[in-house]
Amino acid sequence: MNVSAQSNETHDNVSALPLGKALVLYVDRIMLTNFRSYESMTLDAGSNSVVLTGANGAGKTNLLEAISFLSPGRGLRRAKLSDVSRINANSSWAVAGRVMTPNGERQMGSGLVPRADLSSETANDRRIGRLDGETLSSPAAFGEILQVAWLTPQMDRLFIDGVSSRRRFLDRMVAAYHPSHTREVSAYERVMRERAKLLSEGGADPVWIGSLESRMAEHGVAVAAARLDALEKLSSAIAESQSAFPSAVLALGGLLEEGLLSKPALEVEAEFCEKLVASRHIDARSGRTSVGPHKTDLLVRHKEKNMPAELCSTGEQKALLIGITLASARLTATQFGAPPVLLLDEVAAHLDEKRRGFLFEELGDIGSQVWLTGTDRSLFDLMQKRARFFHFKDGKIEAH
Ligand SMILES: Nc1ncnc2c1ncn2[C@@H]1O[C@H](COP(=O)(O)OP(=O)(O)OP(=O)(O)O)[C@@H](O)[C@H]1O
Ligand SMILES: [Mg+2]
Repeated sequence: MNVSAQSNETHDNVSALPLGKALVLYVDRIMLTNFRSYESMTLDAGSNSVVLTGANGAGKTNLLEAISFLSPGRGLRRAKLSDVSRINANSSWAVAGRVMTPNGERQMGSGLVPRADLSSETANDRRIGRLDGETLSSPAAFGEILQVAWLTPQMDRLFIDGVSSRRRFLDRMVAAYHPSHTREVSAYERVMRERAKLLSEGGADPVWIGSLESRMAEHGVAVAAARLDALEKLSSAIAESQSAFPSAVLALGGLLEEGLLSKPALEVEAEFCEKLVASRHIDARSGRTSVGPHKTDLLVRHKEKNMPAELCSTGEQKALLIGITLASARLTATQFGAPPVLLLDEVAAHLDEKRRGFLFEELGDIGSQVWLTGTDRSLFDLMQKRARFFHFKDGKIEAH
């Protein structure tokens, strides 16, 4: 598919909308090359939210995934980088975005550099970032320019799936208010892997292992402290927001986070170090690390029903998740200085008309640029005046 969705309309007719705040941070244009179903595609959103409609398999989620690559991490599908390359095309892919920020226009780009093209001996493919024409070694710095948050149909299982997806969801939110969080988590995991490798090989110098454990404790406590602080702020944002979506009561189930609630950081750090020393034997045998912030869970309760999220109905869980995401977007606006770009994949289809109306109203109030998808255009009638509509048909994208 080689389509262009550039529209000749000026943006002014839709940016001065009566509903909602003017956007201060948005993806003005997105360009994809060899990205999944897209050979080459340009879409101009302007300073609007965007509604993408079309049949199953039309390419709606692919486009949202491309935007999610304008943030650090593995994107909204957490796909293997090589799977994103268009089948039967050259193995690299690229996404480029023109992003309007309160400090002016920025050119952001990202793409896959296949292992074979890397000069150093690297075992894996790598995603690079480009910012205003400069190549970055990784897209980590994107988080300083743009925050992107998303809800996908896969996340409907967030409260019943394993703890790791909830922890990732938590850490993405924390990173929106604590810029160094992603780096701290990576540093902790890197040292943890190094310790696990040495332990499983056997015969390593205990002093060296001890120094790795001290570093793990240092990074681990920083990770846990940022999570606690973020959770406190998020809980206040939930309490203050007059949302139509249910309120969540949030807590953290984790050794360090629980320790920090009642003890000074240095004490928690020392205790964690002791636990690591004590678990060397077990960890050497299992090849894993039995304690630490890499095991922390995000515990969610439905406030009004006083019910753990995992025991709520599917619709209630979805509503809780939307409520948390909206509160987090409000908090991002104050902490980061601008609300996040929100990618809401198939969210509207699961809500009744009244709830949909509330959602669109709250989104307008937050001032996020929102990218919404759905098969049916009528789901978005209430967004008529606030979004630019695109429809995918026969491999083409048409602006409506
Ligand atoms: N690497 C790839 N190369 C080429 N095509 C791909 C690749 N990965 C996925 N696709 C195809 O892209 C198409 C569009 O997928 P996408 O998930 O974006 O659809 P969608 O519009 O979100 O559909 P739905 O409404 O079912 O969610 C699918 O047919 C899929 O098979
Ligand atoms: Mg889809």
